[in-house]
Amino acid sequence: SASNLQIQTNLIGTVHALIHSVLKPPELRICWFALIYAVYSSFSSPLKVCVSFEQENSGEESRGLVHQVSNESRLSITDSLTEFFDAQEVLLSASSSENEISDDDSYVSDISDNISEDNLSNDIENERQTLVAVGEIRMECHSERRTCLPAPCPNTSNISLWNILRNNIGKDLSKVAMPVELNEPLNTLQRLCEELEYSELLDKAAHTPDPFERMVYVAAFAVSAYASSYYRAGSKPFNPVLGETYECIREDKGFQYFSEQVSHHPPISACHAESANFVFWQDMRWKNKFWGKSMEIVPIGTTHVTLPAFRDHFVWNKVTSCIHNILSGQRWIEHYGEIIIKNLNDDICHCKLTFMKAKYWSPNVHEIEGSVINKSGKVVHRFFGKWHESLYYGTSSSPSCIWRANPMPKDYEQCYGFTQFALELNELDPQTRSLLPATDTRFRPDQRLLEEGNTEGAEMQKQRIEQLQRERRKVLEENNLEHHPRFFRKSIDDSWVSNGTYLDLRKDPGFSRLDSPVLW
Ligand SMILES: *[C@@H]1O[C@H](CO)[C@@H](O)[C@H](O)[C@H]1NC(C)=O
Ligand SMILES: *[C@@H]1O[C@H](CO)[C@@H](O)[C@H](O)[C@H]1NC(C)=O
Ligand SMILES: *[C@@H]1O[C@H](CO)[C@@H](O)[C@H](O)[C@H]1NC(C)=O
Ligand SMILES: *[C@@H]1O[C@H](CO)[C@@H](O)[C@H](O)[C@H]1NC(C)=O
Ligand SMILES: *[C@@H]1O[C@H](CO)[C@@H](O)[C@H](O)[C@H]1NC(C)=O
Ligand SMILES: *[C@@H]1O[C@H](CO)[C@@H](O)[C@H](O)[C@H]1NC(C)=O
Repeated sequence: SASNLQIQTNLIGTVHALIHSVLKPPELRICWFALIYAVYSSFSSPLKVCVSFEQENSGEESRGLVHQVSNESRLSITDSLTEFFDAQEVLLSASSSENEISDDDSYVSDISDNISEDNLSNDIENERQTLVAVGEIRMECHSERRTCLPAPCPNTSNISLWNILRNNIGKDLSKVAMPVELNEPLNTLQRLCEELEYSELLDKAAHTPDPFERMVYVAAFAVSAYASSYYRAGSKPFNPVLGETYECIREDKGFQYFSEQVSHHPPISACHAESANFVFWQDMRWKNKFWGKSMEIVPIGTTHVTLPAFRDHFVWNKVTSCIHNILSGQRWIEHYGEIIIKNLNDDICHCKLTFMKAKYWSPNVHEIEGSVINKSGKVVHRFFGKWHESLYYGTSSSPSCIWRANPMPKDYEQCYGFTQFALELNELDPQTRSLLPATDTRFRPDQRLLEEGNTEGAEMQKQRIEQLQRERRKVLEENNLEHHPRFFRKSIDDSWVSNGTYLDLRKDPGFSRLDSPVLW
């Protein structure tokens, strides 16, 4: 009902209120773009943006008329703006004076190196008040492995990313501190471990003599790594501090996994897992592209799997992930792009997997298709499915299922959308406690407090831990020293590989007898 409302860049808050209260979908869209445009232009030039809303007549007839006419122009504005925003990467950090840093910073919101001196904390404080109450409901857990978290996740629907951005206009987005409630109580090292949830596919591959079929299982494993992200668009993992480690030793699944944060600028997480059947390793970093209404996460790095039984060495890339509705509405995650799996030791076949991008008019979201292709370029196996559900191969008349995602645990909505496997990752039982190095993520207090529903405590600890990290870095810089990872080394091709010491040291003399750096 706004009449000739003039919106200038310094009134973004007003527009925000409008979006959430008054406006219905078509108007919301225009307003949305106006807003993005206003924010964007406030970075690049002192341009003023004015948006006006004409008041509609209250009479029934004339309202219809206005609607008809304006629908047309709305459509075209919306369309061209869609194009504009989809064609051009909107980098909030474009005008930042710290471009050389922002360039290699990855997980946008993770890097909260510089805490805004604006009123961000006030906003969060207000918003948190309502959240703490929710966190106080305790949930009951019984069983050997926990099937739920100690406290339900906070309801973050009231946290306004807009307010946060508004208070940080002109700053490098990667330097903006995000409230801890936007995190899930897992970090990137643990997220990389989640890719092993379906490690039995590699076990199967290791017992399959036919190389084409073996490739099918490896491809299914590559797809299965995405399944756990389906309910996870609402929050982001903690960013490990430099030197932080995480291990996951699963006798039931037969693998031993360990990982370390090996670099801070850019953040790189390296991991390694081995079992009787396979060796798995990768180092991951990400580039983020903020597009206004969505954020793309473009992974850089290669995943490696070797199957000693057949002397196979598979390598593949990852696809782009996109979080939609990043600033308002229901967030959802999508993966798109192509994965090529190659066997470095045998070129008898390779595999191509396509993650399809959703289209407005198509209900086929999250679909994948792919094929195993032989040396002369002929398709040997075809598969199709959805990355969050299942994967089939064979003809569409008689497909056979290679992989199916595990059912979600009860109450998963209250547990950050974690799968059962994810729920267990940060669990700290007394037996493992004494075996872990002090740098293990399970000891990280901010993440633990968030898991327990104490968001206020978590926020304080997070800031303290980040401050400690800054101080350590300063000491290194002042003394012209470089950080050396403990358990990984850089290989000739610049990827990070295990230096083969973690599991040995764990056994003998044991981490309780070794000094570990103090990270928190
Ligand atoms: C944080 O940013 C401000 C300017 O926005 C700068 O003056 C200050 O030095 C920065 N602090 C750190 C620790 O980088
Ligand atoms: C920050 O908050 C204080 C009081 O809460 C207010 O006086 C000040 O104007 C605010 N600053 C900005 C930049 O909004
Ligand atoms: C969210 O905010 C609205 C109004 O701002 C309030 O009525 C509602 O109770 C809040 N919800 C939660 C879960 O905090
Ligand atoms: C969170 O709170 C909002 C109201 O602020 C409510 O609409 C929504 O259903 C809540 N979500 C959950 C998961 O409880
Ligand atoms: C590839 O597959 C096609 C069709 O099955 C077959 O004719 C051809 O010989 C195969 N090429 C190789 C190098 O195995
Ligand atoms: C491997 O790890 C050990 C133990 O942390 C360390 O002392 C050694 O320097 C590392 N070796 C290499 C080559 O990085």
